[in-house]
Amino acid sequence: MNDFWNDEKDIQTELELVHDLIISTVDKAQGFIRPVLHSHVKTQGKLLRPALVLITSNLSGETDRNQAVRIASVLEFIHLASLVHDDIIDSAQKRRGNLTVFAQVGAKQAVLAGDYLLACAMSLLTGKEADMDNVVVSNALVRLCESELNQDAGQGNFFISEREYFKRIAGKTASLFALSCYAGSSTAKLPRELRKRCHRIGYSLGMAFQIQDDILDFTGSESKLGKTIGNDLRCGIPTLPLILALKTENEKSTLERPLHDLLAKNKSLSASATKKAVSLVLSLGGVEQAKVVADRYGNRALNDIQSLQHEKVEKQLSSLFEKLSIRSR
Ligand code: FPP
Ligand code: MG
Repeated sequence: MNDFWNDEKDIQTELELVHDLIISTVDKAQGFIRPVLHSHVKTQGKLLRPALVLITSNLSGETDRNQAVRIASVLEFIHLASLVHDDIIDSAQKRRGNLTVFAQVGAKQAVLAGDYLLACAMSLLTGKEADMDNVVVSNALVRLCESELNQDAGQGNFFISEREYFKRIAGKTASLFALSCYAGSSTAKLPRELRKRCHRIGYSLGMAFQIQDDILDFTGSESKLGKTIGNDLRCGIPTLPLILALKTENEKSTLERPLHDLLAKNKSLSASATKKAVSLVLSLGGVEQAKVVADRYGNRALNDIQSLQHEKVEKQLSSLFEKLSIRSR
């Protein structure tokens, strides 16, 4: 098991059950796709979504732990399916150091493999999912797909509004974080108002997490990230540091707009143009401004977490927040 959860033994133990359930579900697949799916699901990330389900499911003592583990696995399966599809869209050869499903079997089979993982998620549902509101569940998936469609359709257009960016990351990341917290609190049979608050916590955490991730594309260490700096820019994907840097450049009274001019010329950037754009974004303060926005979402999450008035869950969510380094340092 990945050591991210080493200091939270309860969660780590249940995440191992999630992992086992995922492996045993995938191992029911027939034929050549089984080892391919197996290779994709066996390398775990931080298991953030199932962990959020498990943590919030502890908000009462009324949770059926088997049900919480099952629902946590459903959330991870949805995420795993979306990554298979995402790697096709991005033509990605590697994920977490391994060959992607796309690289192993090509686009056609990878589409089906992603669908298969979505079917695995559904196979774990019993129809009596802790009285969850179907609209909340289906909205999360609709937003996830919509945001990927928008991002893909807009690829190469660097000039999007902050509003459009927030909408995209809300769909791409915050929607599943929010659904995870909602699902966990539903297994705990919390009243509707508290489930809504948990949904909001997941949403704010997801927004802060994605902005932080987008900041790392400008400031991170290439060896730790496993990707090159400026990867989003190179692929024609605008993120918050860029949007805010462009805004600053536009507001300056000088006539020169080197960042604007560089991006207006190209739909995707060469290595040297990317380097230049990254350095302009940094010097225009795009990263610093994006950190302020990430902090705003982070603080909103922390306030809501405190209002749950549950010492253990508050400690676990706050330490997760710290470990993800969501707060800018
Ligand atoms: C990773 O983004 C992508 C996602 C978090 C969402 C992908 C969603 C879809 C492809 C929609 C399909 C949905 C289902 C349920 C099958 P990234 O490319 O920024 O991050 P990466 O560096 O991890 O690839
Ligand atoms: Mg990707």
